[in-house]
Amino acid sequence: MSDHILVSRDGPVLIIRMNRAEKKNAITRAMYSAMTDALLSGEADDSVKCHVMLGSPGAFSSGNDMQDFLSFATSGATELTEVWSFLQALATVKKPFVSGVDGLAIGIGMTINLHCDLTLATPRSQFRTPFVDLALVPEAGSSLLLPAIAGHQRAFAMLVLGETFSASQAKDAGIIWDVVSEDELETKTIALAQRLAARAPEAVKLSKALMKDQSGIVLDRIKEEAMLFGQRLHSAEARDAFMAFMMRKK
Ligand code: COA
Repeated sequence: MSDHILVSRDGPVLIIRMNRAEKKNAITRAMYSAMTDALLSGEADDSVKCHVMLGSPGAFSSGNDMQDFLSFATSGATELTEVWSFLQALATVKKPFVSGVDGLAIGIGMTINLHCDLTLATPRSQFRTPFVDLALVPEAGSSLLLPAIAGHQRAFAMLVLGETFSASQAKDAGIIWDVVSEDELETKTIALAQRLAARAPEAVKLSKALMKDQSGIVLDRIKEEAMLFGQRLHSAEARDAFMAFMMRKK
């Protein structure tokens, strides 16, 4: 398992931590695979009652690794297999899933949270989906989930205009549950997960199932987005945008 993903237990809570702070937790293919494995093993383990996802101080995640995007864009590949497997696992988690965001939540670092049941964030958090900036389209079901959660106009402002949302804007929009201080984020996130883990597990799972899509509509949307996203990754305008990012400091 990649050491850029750390998996640990706090009693019945499984904690998945992105641990690539030097790259603001940009997510590589190996990291997606490690997170998928962790989620699936947590789902299969009866002693796990709740999943938690955390990042690093100041960076939950800066999104998909740009070098991986560039490699994909210049290859003949048609599918980001590791991303697809992760999104499938993420969208179908049956146990409660809590996230704690401090700082950057960009691209998939933002859209992961749309699949969480409760998210805490710190006042310095920034939620941004620069898909169109990169000549891409929304992913992870966000084109369906975000308008449903936040309404069309706020979703359009974030997904198409590329507006950054502060923690309080994200809370107002229903994207997160609450805002807590930086030094309390981790303990409060895990405490929230422990509260969920202490509740009747079958009742929690059934309640979550009632509240989440069971018809496959979210997975279908993720697939549809992934098809367009894959095509966009091969476009000249997207390639230029990744190159511009990779070259910006040189
Ligand atoms: N993929 C790969 N590397 C990334 C990255 C990403 N998504 N985001 C940040 N990094 C790397 C930077 O290249 C830099 O590496 P270096 O130190 O080897 O040069 C390191 O992480 C620190 O990032 P830096 O840009 O110096 O920090 P910053 O505080 O000035 O800016 C961001 C942080 C996240 C705002 C900026 O890095 C950024 O815009 N990243 C791209 C975000 C993005 O578009 N993600 C994809 C969404 S679909």
